[in-house]
Order: sequence, then structure tokens, then C-alpha cells
Amino acid sequence: MAASDNSSDSTHFGFREVPKDDKAGLVRGVFDSVAGSYDLMNDLMSGGVHRLWKSAMIDWLMPRKGQHLLDVAGGTGDIAFRFLDAVGGDGRVTVLDINHAMLSVGQDRAIDQGRLNGIDWTNGDAQSLPLPDKSVDAYTIAFGIRNVTDIPKALREAYRVLKPGGRFLCLEFSKVEAPVLKEFYDFYSFKLLPEIGGIVAKDKASYQYLVESIRQFPDADEFADMLRVAGFGQVKYRRLSGGIAALHSGWRL
Ligand SMILES: C[S@@+](CC[C@H](N)C(=O)[O-])C[C@H]1O[C@@H](n2cnc3c(N)ncnc32)[C@H](O)[C@@H]1O
Repeated sequence: MAASDNSSDSTHFGFREVPKDDKAGLVRGVFDSVAGSYDLMNDLMSGGVHRLWKSAMIDWLMPRKGQHLLDVAGGTGDIAFRFLDAVGGDGRVTVLDINHAMLSVGQDRAIDQGRLNGIDWTNGDAQSLPLPDKSVDAYTIAFGIRNVTDIPKALREAYRVLKPGGRFLCLEFSKVEAPVLKEFYDFYSFKLLPEIGGIVAKDKASYQYLVESIRQFPDADEFADMLRVAGFGQVKYRRLSGGIAALHSGWRL
């Protein structure tokens, strides 16, 4: 699996092999292009189901008042907003994302929703977090980790910034096992989804990348092992919607 292979100078960008140094720029290009239509596309592509998955993530996190969440690859703020709602506004979120355009859409949404406090919007890379050791109560990453060039490095960074007793949760696309669902899902994602991306976001290639990157991501057991290697304890996962997505949980013990 290329995502966990640190020995080579190349990595995957969707189904293409690219120099490792090029991947972050290519990923940035994808999200620069789709930022303006990202939220609409999420609803269209998933029939709104991404909202249920994100709510399931916050339910499993069980946030408490006063906590500081770091939401990495936080994009347009979906996880941050749910976290703040769950703690009744009594908490703090650092939304960190490598892409200015996504953060800017998130900031506009926050203003539109009257969310003026509790969120720091930070431009940064999951692989070298601009936060001190043992500084956050929880770390979340939703549909972000598969875009990162060096996933083991990002997981070590997550572990570093969590306080002992802190919680890691990752929501990501996973592997569909059931044959009938898999057939439908493959047809939908490879044939229909890039076409929808072409019409709505005017960018078929970016949605082709998003679909391909899902197929390159490790399966749920493999990703759980990567969390253990990074140091996390009590690693567990839950499959969502027949394995289309998975939620992984781990603790810095
Ligand atoms: C599919 S979006 C997910 C956004 C949001 N978490 C959600 O679930 O709606 C992926 C996000 O990952 C960000 N990203 C990609 N590589 C990153 C990296 N190395 N560090 C931080 N963010 C990154 C992208 O800019 C993009 O905003």
C-alpha cells in the first residue's frame, strides 16, 4: 500500500504515481478548484449522508464543555460547528487546513451562522502541526487523511499534540465489502460522480482524483494498525453505510 510506504520518492495522486514533493501542490490545486462548490457537492454526492457520518463522529467523540479540539483538514468547518453545538458553545476549536480557499469558505459560513467566537482558523499542514506538544484534548480529521502525503507522519503529529488521555478520531472513506453494494458503488463513483463534478463544480478531473484517492486508502484494519504504530491505544473502528466510510478512534494513554 503506497500510503504507508515511506521508502520511495514517489507516491500516489489518485491512480497516478507522482514525486512525493509534488503531491501537496496537486492536492492544493484540487481544493482551490472545488472550494466554492464543496459544500453543495458533498450534499449532492452523498445525498446528505455525509451529515449523518459527521454527526456520528461527534457523537462518538462525546465532547465535554471547555475542551479544545484540533480539527485537521477542517475545510469549511462542518466538524468544528458540530463540536461547538455539542458543547453549547463552551469550547474551542482550531480548524487547521492546508488550503486558504477552503478556510475562507468556512470563515464566511461561520459569519453567516453568527458563530463569532470559539474558532481559530489556521493555515497549516497535518504533517507538521503548528501546536505545542500535549496541547489539545481531542484531534479530529474528516475526509482529510487520504490527501496527506505522509500519513504515518501526520499520525505521529496527532499523537504529539494530544494531551495524555486525549482522543483521536478519523472519519474517512473505506472499503465496501458486500458484492452488490460494491458493484453499485463502483459504478456510481467512477462513472457518475466525476460527471456530476464536471457539471456542478466545472471540474471533472478533481472529482476523478477524489474517487481514485478513496480506492488508494488502506482498509479499516490496515488503518487501525497504522494508528497503533503511531502510538495510539484502545484503537477501535466502526464501519458506516456498509463500509463506504469508517470512523477510527484511538487514545493517547
Ligand atoms: C475532503 S476535504 C474535507 C473537509 C472537511 N473536513 C469535511 O469533512 O468537510 C479535505 C481537506 O483536506 C485538506 N488537506 C489536504 N491535505 C492537507 C494537509 N496535508 N494538511 C492539512 N489539510 C490538508 C484540504 O485542503 C481539504 O480542505
